[in-house]
Amino acid sequence: MTVPRVPPAAIARDVRVWDPLLRITHWSFLLLIPTMWWTAENSKWALHRQTGLVLIGLLMFRIIWGFMGPRTARFSDFVKGPGAVIAYLRGQMAGAATQIGHSPLGGWSTLALLGAMLLQASLGLFAGDPYDGMTGPLNPLVGVMTADAITELHETFFWVIAGFIGLHLTAIAFYTVRGDDLLSPMVSGDRPPIPGVAGIGPTPWGRAAVALALAAGFALWLAYGAPPIT
Ligand code: HEM
Repeated sequence: MTVPRVPPAAIARDVRVWDPLLRITHWSFLLLIPTMWWTAENSKWALHRQTGLVLIGLLMFRIIWGFMGPRTARFSDFVKGPGAVIAYLRGQMAGAATQIGHSPLGGWSTLALLGAMLLQASLGLFAGDPYDGMTGPLNPLVGVMTADAITELHETFFWVIAGFIGLHLTAIAFYTVRGDDLLSPMVSGDRPPIPGVAGIGPTPWGRAAVALALAAGFALWLAYGAPPIT
């Protein structure tokens, strides 16, 4: 039996939506946030501090990637004004059928999640009591009373993060129930073909190396207590 030949151009290809580094960063958050909570609950302070510094490094990378990464990773691609969010919520967004990456609402939820994690990790840098166990690497830069207040806030703010993550998971579940599978692209990087849409193309590994080096350098500098660079 002869199999009919299909011209290559006629075979619809999956569309690449998320690059591998964005996905690795994302799934690392899922690993790191519960680890941060567990290490704090069980007073594993050395591990808490190390994990926190890794989290800051990843957040720094994601922020830099928001300016240097592929199209869907860029803030300019997904941070939209209130008009775009309202149009999206009303189902009146222009070009919605061919849009890939974060929706205007997803863009704001991304900013909220990244911002909340960044604030929490930054508070942790100053938290702790030098006379009573472990401190963050920047704790010596603030007075004991200030560090005390920061520590309280650091403990309470975890629940804001937990709330944001709860909302995030509810939104993903909501879209899944409506037949919009957001999860598979965040795992594989690809979504089913959309006619006329090409996807983000190959990962810019040179720029990725620069972003990773900058983020790692910054986290290391913080780990050493942010010494003057002269
Ligand atoms: C600690 C837990 C989590 C945190 C902090 C978190 C955070 C984030 C952030 C910051 C983004 C934006 C991605 C980016 O542009 O960098 C995102 C997107 C996404 N997350 Fe999570 N996430 C968590 C857990 C999960 C879980 C458990 C799932 C799956 C069940 C999930 C599914 C997704 C999906 C599908 C997107 C893409 C949404 C879109 O298409 O706009 N996340 N998440």
